[in-house]
Amino acid sequence: GFDISKLLGQTGLTTLDNGFGNTAACKSAITYIDGDQGILRYRGYPIEQIAERGSFLETAYLLINGELPNAEQLRVFEHDINQHTLLHEDVKRFFQGFPRDAHPMAMLSSVVGALSTFYQDSHNPFDPEQRYVSAVRLLAKLPTIAAYAFKKAQGHPFVYPRNDLGYVENFLRMTFAVPAEDYELNPVVVNALEKLLILHADHEQNCSTSTVRLVGSSHANLFASISAGINALWGPLHGGANQAVLEMLEGIKRDGGDVDAFIRKVKNREDGVRLMGFGHRVYKSFDPRAQIIKAAAHDVLAQLGKADELLDIALKLEQHALTDDYFVSRKLYPNVDFYTGLIYRAMGFPTSMFTVLFALGRLPGWIAHWQEMITDPANKIGRPRQIYTGEVIRDYVPIDAR
Ligand code: ACO
Repeated sequence: GFDISKLLGQTGLTTLDNGFGNTAACKSAITYIDGDQGILRYRGYPIEQIAERGSFLETAYLLINGELPNAEQLRVFEHDINQHTLLHEDVKRFFQGFPRDAHPMAMLSSVVGALSTFYQDSHNPFDPEQRYVSAVRLLAKLPTIAAYAFKKAQGHPFVYPRNDLGYVENFLRMTFAVPAEDYELNPVVVNALEKLLILHADHEQNCSTSTVRLVGSSHANLFASISAGINALWGPLHGGANQAVLEMLEGIKRDGGDVDAFIRKVKNREDGVRLMGFGHRVYKSFDPRAQIIKAAAHDVLAQLGKADELLDIALKLEQHALTDDYFVSRKLYPNVDFYTGLIYRAMGFPTSMFTVLFALGRLPGWIAHWQEMITDPANKIGRPRQIYTGEVIRDYVPIDAR
């Protein structure tokens, strides 16, 4: 990590790095990735171990505080989160104002942004107590907001949180339970979702996390910063890829299931078609999350008894791509999103909710990075430079002379 900025500043030179492929914007002690070897670790712990043995809130605590909690620390953290799951009734009214066919990601970012109007005690990012309460409120309320966005689209009444349930159980109940009807939680679904949330919890300086850090670098509050991150996540090249993968698989199925024809289309770059769920800026061998999720997809679909023709298409696509020189030479492997959609679908989520689930998972990472950034004495407002390519100078022309 040689900091070249001071040296360049003295020479008046500027580096141009499209997409920041080779530029570190910060130092960070949260997540380690080795893209060549397919390694991902949260605070030094291998992702495989955390996904196998940890819980989502334990992972959130680890990311935000740097260490795994002991039993008492975890109890307090879970208790604090459980106490904040309700939304203010006026927040609930936001959902009445949205059109029924609004994308849930748009509702999510709007309502999270609006939380800063309700919690004005969150506006000093340098107060550790305010930071903690804001983080707890966000972790507690995002599942409620996400479930309400789902209910809004269904036209169903909202189901209030129940604080005797675990984090994932509570979210599933608020999403799928219908008032006055029994709702039984399926442990297969609970465990799979817990694991998926853990796998999404952080991924260092991806587009949404960098957005959170950039917005936060102006000392904007946590709600404002996270709302911006949710919008960055929405795009199909980032978190929106999980929705795009499912739509791609459905499209291939509609067209008769011809995987070879689709791959040809991708390789010929017809209509800019990409193999969604493939490729990654950092992973150039395999994405360790994708390997865990592929195994989970098989398990969950089998346990839920949901044979899925789309899984067969996905397997064929993967098989084809892994042996095709176009993908091999460009080091394109399945990423975290390639198989998640199939699991979410089997759980009963519509495609429009997939990226919302990603946001629920990524929230602890966003919070951890915002906090790391704001407490770093070396932090400066993020302010990239540019290479100006416009006219050098010209004289103003009055409108009647143009
Ligand atoms: N299908 C077909 N070709 C691809 C794909 C793909 N999915 N991804 C990259 N390529 C090709 C590019 O066309 C390019 O080829 P060229 O050099 O011959 O022009 C080469 O591979 C390098 O691609 P870039 O776009 O330069 O790679 P970059 O690092 O900028 O992009 C990204 C990474 C955005 C993930 C890209 O691979 C992609 O668009 N994938 C599909 C969308 C997706 O799955 N996104 C989720 C990412 S993971 C996440 O956010 C959770």
